[in-house]
Amino acid sequence: MKKNILMCPPKFFGIEYEINSWMHTENDVNQDVATKQWDDLYNIYSQKLSWNVNLIEPIKGLPDMVFATDCCLIKDGKILLSNFRYPERQAETQYFEKWLHANGFTNTQHAQNRFEGGGDNLVCGDKILAGHGFRSDEAAADEMREYFGCEVVSLKIVDPDFYHLDTSLAVLSDDTVAYYPGAIDEESRERLKKAIPNLIEATHEEAKGFGLNAVSDGRTIITSNESESLLQKYRDAGFEVEGTSILEFRKSGGGVKCLTLSLD
Ligand code: ARG
Repeated sequence: MKKNILMCPPKFFGIEYEINSWMHTENDVNQDVATKQWDDLYNIYSQKLSWNVNLIEPIKGLPDMVFATDCCLIKDGKILLSNFRYPERQAETQYFEKWLHANGFTNTQHAQNRFEGGGDNLVCGDKILAGHGFRSDEAAADEMREYFGCEVVSLKIVDPDFYHLDTSLAVLSDDTVAYYPGAIDEESRERLKKAIPNLIEATHEEAKGFGLNAVSDGRTIITSNESESLLQKYRDAGFEVEGTSILEFRKSGGGVKCLTLSLD
């Protein structure tokens, strides 16, 4: 399936503050490496896969705006706009809202609870898998149930290295999810097992390479090439895999999926 996505060029990307355990201001980004990795990802989407890649103008002073997935969650044409936990990121929402409205995505609402869009919330078939614990509020799940009118499976994140659900869990198709079990608590693991027919488990070592921060069209999975064993698990499950170097963005706690907002 040819997807329609939005990305934000890494012109002003950097480590200007620390809001997760990966970020250290003294370990700043190498601009050339980040730009090359971002360009490679852009080319996989636009050339190799012929997807439609839209771009939003980056804003100086918003270094995390590159992580476009965090601005909102889109399901069945309805958009819930993010309400970021940290003031450092709160201004991002208005720029994405402006872009969405200018490009015909007008069915939007602002989240009342803390809610970090695709960072914590992943659409899987007719359900939403919703992470909370570090960024989004638990109550955001109720808000989504009401707004989107669908089943929301609430998952409590317990490992600070996987502060956003999309760092430890990837939706590969409507019925297949890959995840690192240690990132969420036991009751959440049980809820996930009840909700999703096919689960692929990743080890801590595999998860650290950000290969669970993945984009999929149901057939091809695009993700970090850091852990070959994880990519092999994807292939063994019948998927095609496009692995790419993306670790300059891990300095900020991000990867392939974070850089990619699905507009479908
Ligand atoms: N530095 C960003 C933050 O801590 C990284 C966000 C990554 N996004 C994601 N979807 N995991 O908010």
